[in-house]
Amino acid sequence: MSNDVNTLTRDDYLSDAVWQAEREKIFHGGWVLAGAGQRLAPGNRSVVNIAGESVLLTRDLKGFLHAFANVCRHRGSMLCEGHQESTQGSLMCPYHAWTYSLDGKLIATPHLDDTDVDKSTLPLWQYHLREWEGLIFVSLAADPMPFDQWLQRHAGEMTALARFGIADLKAVAHTVCDIAANWKIVVENYQECLHCTRVHPELVDLVPLYRSGWVTDHSRDDGGADLSRGNTMSDQPMDLPPLPGVTGADQNSYFGATYFPNGFVDVTGPSVVISTLYPDGPNRTVMTMDFLFHPDAIATPGFDPQPIIDFNVLVGNQDNVVCEAVQRGVTSKSFDHGVLTPKDEGVIWFTQHYLGTMAES
Ligand code: FES
Ligand SMILES: [Fe+2]
Repeated sequence: MSNDVNTLTRDDYLSDAVWQAEREKIFHGGWVLAGAGQRLAPGNRSVVNIAGESVLLTRDLKGFLHAFANVCRHRGSMLCEGHQESTQGSLMCPYHAWTYSLDGKLIATPHLDDTDVDKSTLPLWQYHLREWEGLIFVSLAADPMPFDQWLQRHAGEMTALARFGIADLKAVAHTVCDIAANWKIVVENYQECLHCTRVHPELVDLVPLYRSGWVTDHSRDDGGADLSRGNTMSDQPMDLPPLPGVTGADQNSYFGATYFPNGFVDVTGPSVVISTLYPDGPNRTVMTMDFLFHPDAIATPGFDPQPIIDFNVLVGNQDNVVCEAVQRGVTSKSFDHGVLTPKDEGVIWFTQHYLGTMAES
């Protein structure tokens, strides 16, 4: 057969013009994953970088999540940094101490009274936010496509995960890694397993399907892949109860779904891992992982998620090495594009979906 399906081009991976167009059409025009909502208890606040825009996430004391531009309405100082756990219902600008409630109202302006500043006209600039199955989705567009429509159109496979009850889980760990590669190279790598035998010896030992080069088991119609042992994504036996939504044959299976443009969700027995990509220019992607467990598992005597965290970080680091090698490779003057084979079916889907989205007006 001929190699008639191509990868994206050199320019698609490297060019600043393509990156600017992606920001406009996808990362600032659509709905992006912004991590696990379970990480934000009431009072907490967290800053995320959505394709170069600093976005402040808060959960107010009533339990509602909000997304704002991370900038003060007074003279434009950045408001917060990183992830902050707090039980307070307000946040204060570090410059002149203007203070905002966690739902964005300006509530205090020290040294200034109501004749100096009309607080009611200066709330934080707010973005659209939707909490779906415990995950945070944000849109920076003024008038975005309704979230449910976006999800159906761009990430329909995610809806199959609703049966696992992810919203009921608790976040127990958060990891961050910095990858010197274009976000699309990271997504493409997740979409195929032709690299798995070579790159992930520990993973193919646990998920024998991956030795075949397929990432999807076409003999099953539920999207699952069998585990060779136990019910956890770890290299040692663990005795943890599976999620309440993981029953029957699901208990010894792995399920994965991709959110377009920037997330992966992995469900295995007792745990869910949410991977979120935060592209920062054409050559850099920060990836976070949130590790979620059910309260019943967390209450198990001796509960220790570390083997699952370690295994996922090991596999993730193995992927990062090859993604960075691709990023360096595609800078070659000779590289115009690569080729895709039948077992790259997930990469083919992503490539075509990406190009279709970018071509929309
Ligand atoms: S810039 Fe924030 S209070 Fe002045
Ligand atoms: Fe991999």
